[in-house]
Amino acid sequence: MSNDLIHWRDEHVSILVDLSGPALPRILHWGADLGHHDDTLLEELADTVDPQRVSDETDDLVVATVLPLESAGWVGEPGLSGHRSGRDFAPKFVRTDPPEIEETDDVRRITVRAADAEAHLELIWTIEMLPGGLVRQRNRVTNTGTSTYELTGLLCAYPVPSNAGELLDLTGRHLRERTPQRSPFTIGAHVRDNRRGRTGLDGSILTFAGAPGFGFEGGEVWATHLAWSGNHRLVAERAVRGTRLLSGGELLAPGEMLLEPGQSYESPWWYGAYGDGITEASARFHTYLRSRPQHPRRERPVTINTWEAVYFDHDLGRLKALADNAARVGVERFVLDDGWFGARRNDRAGLGDWVVSADAWPDGLAPLIDHVRGLGMEFGIWVEPEMVNPDSDLARAHPEWILSPGGSRLPMSWRHQQVLDLTDEGAYQHVLGQLDGLLRDHDIAYLKWDHNRDLLEAGDRHGHPAVHRQTLAAYALMDELLRRHPGLEIESCSSGGGRVDLGVLERACRVWGSDCLDALERQQIQRWTTALIPWEMLGCHIGSDSNHTTGRKQSLGFRAATAFFGHFGIEWDLTKVDSETLDDVAAWVTAHQAVRPLLHAGRAVTGDHPDDQLWVYGVVAQDGGDAVFALAQRGTSLEAPTGRVRLPGLQPDVTYDVRPLVPGNKVRGTVVKAVPWWDNGFRASGAALSRMGLIAPTQYPEQAVLLRVTRAEESS
Ligand code: GLA
Repeated sequence: MSNDLIHWRDEHVSILVDLSGPALPRILHWGADLGHHDDTLLEELADTVDPQRVSDETDDLVVATVLPLESAGWVGEPGLSGHRSGRDFAPKFVRTDPPEIEETDDVRRITVRAADAEAHLELIWTIEMLPGGLVRQRNRVTNTGTSTYELTGLLCAYPVPSNAGELLDLTGRHLRERTPQRSPFTIGAHVRDNRRGRTGLDGSILTFAGAPGFGFEGGEVWATHLAWSGNHRLVAERAVRGTRLLSGGELLAPGEMLLEPGQSYESPWWYGAYGDGITEASARFHTYLRSRPQHPRRERPVTINTWEAVYFDHDLGRLKALADNAARVGVERFVLDDGWFGARRNDRAGLGDWVVSADAWPDGLAPLIDHVRGLGMEFGIWVEPEMVNPDSDLARAHPEWILSPGGSRLPMSWRHQQVLDLTDEGAYQHVLGQLDGLLRDHDIAYLKWDHNRDLLEAGDRHGHPAVHRQTLAAYALMDELLRRHPGLEIESCSSGGGRVDLGVLERACRVWGSDCLDALERQQIQRWTTALIPWEMLGCHIGSDSNHTTGRKQSLGFRAATAFFGHFGIEWDLTKVDSETLDDVAAWVTAHQAVRPLLHAGRAVTGDHPDDQLWVYGVVAQDGGDAVFALAQRGTSLEAPTGRVRLPGLQPDVTYDVRPLVPGNKVRGTVVKAVPWWDNGFRASGAALSRMGLIAPTQYPEQAVLLRVTRAEESS
């Protein structure tokens, strides 16, 4: 293969990188598979890429390299910005070494080194292609001068072609994370700046550019994601010269990244997934995440979380009774939420004091843990290690350990709490010591790791901006606890879904999608969260019949079917549930356990059903032989009975048996009118199911049915 032109192909995706120096590399194509090209053909192809020059522009051609800069004529969002006391503001990088190209079974990687000898900066750009055809890039910049260089921005960029005429990104708020918004990809920049110090409840965990109207099942789409849990900038920019870039990187505060001579800064990974439809792009993220050594291999234990069951009422008798009923319905992990430590009898006090409250737990946690373990369940516990209530022993002893803008002023209070300065070695060691002690002294398999506020004006005790270092310190704290306690699992929670990104997921194996357990809202939250992560990483719980955050009343069938595909659980006071309902819950748990290996290893698929009130999605086994689908009736449909529903992702030439998956035969009130095949199922080819579809049962709004689709046995 030519060393100037690298063409990688995997799973219907190609990326073509031009490494011919002396300028920085260019991505000539990232998208649909181009098929095999020998060196000669590649060179001919590369020669066709440059546009002609037009009037009133630079004499040399303007090209967007992987680090678009003014020195190459790029006048949009710069790939790198910074200065040295107001000088060296416009760098120009020239390659210093031949590119390094590595290819192993797991990864293909190009590393390019470049420098600006006059601005005294060095740059290392890396791009990788990962299992499943996912790509990622990052930059590292080093100050090789003799004075301080302030880096103010470092973004990575993917070019997308001009048929990417539409953007789709995600926004949201507490209780309504992952709300999609679409817009035309017009000239100019669509910028999503985040200064929250966390990924954000409104964080766009995916930014898509695609052919107008792209959907889940089809339409070319380019999806990007930044693996970072701190401040960030995401830019979709279209220039009049016909260039469209999707860029992302950390958002640095003034003075945050002062590189002293010899110091470096490395950007977070900027991921890219191309697909014919969102489902295909998402599958690349899922395949990669599942390929990592730290991905959970153990079946995801069905979980009960105590939060919406008891809140701060930590009464041993009540919690033991809850554990009894949890065990009765088949729960495998019991998670004690907020309220077990310090003076934490409500959300105004105690955060930061990670010692068991003698007040709430006079005999310690052992009586509850022993009870839970005795019932055959694992025990997990809630912590919020980066936070502190001013009303806590910790804040009283160490007011200097609170992030603030400097001087005596504290940032605005948020849920009565402030942020602990983990960049302070003393504070870091203190929290590490307390959490380590908690895990050493108790039989705890799981931490629900929360983070319930934005970081506003977050400076260290010297008044320097600290979000970057704080984010790395939080990662280090998780890494150290995982190292010291093999087998420990961490869930990333942040007021619900405020910290969902591939940075924290290097160490956490599950995210909490939202504090909203309303199944209707959850349908949307889960649809867009699983566009990035596979179902087994997303906590999905059956909430109370009367929802705590929306007031909606929903059937068990809808709540359970909605939670069914994820890391399944319950967050509901089962001590107040009658025996018949407990049996129903148990039937759902058993049904989930029966298909859990399929749900958590199969390929997630979403249909583009034309009626937006009826959502069709499922998981199909990697070999196509087995599947579970959900038909979720969100609101009332205009057409009744509803039209045919097509099941995506099946093998066209395989014959399948289709039958309702009705746990315990007791989904009361779900189906208004069952279809003729409801009782005995039917048999059809994958082609028929995905192209012709089936007549679905008519349902009330806010109901869902599940279908089991299995390869037909030849004899039957
Ligand atoms: C956050 C979490 C909830 C719960 C509470 C406890 O809001 O998202 O699930 O743990 O904190 O205070």
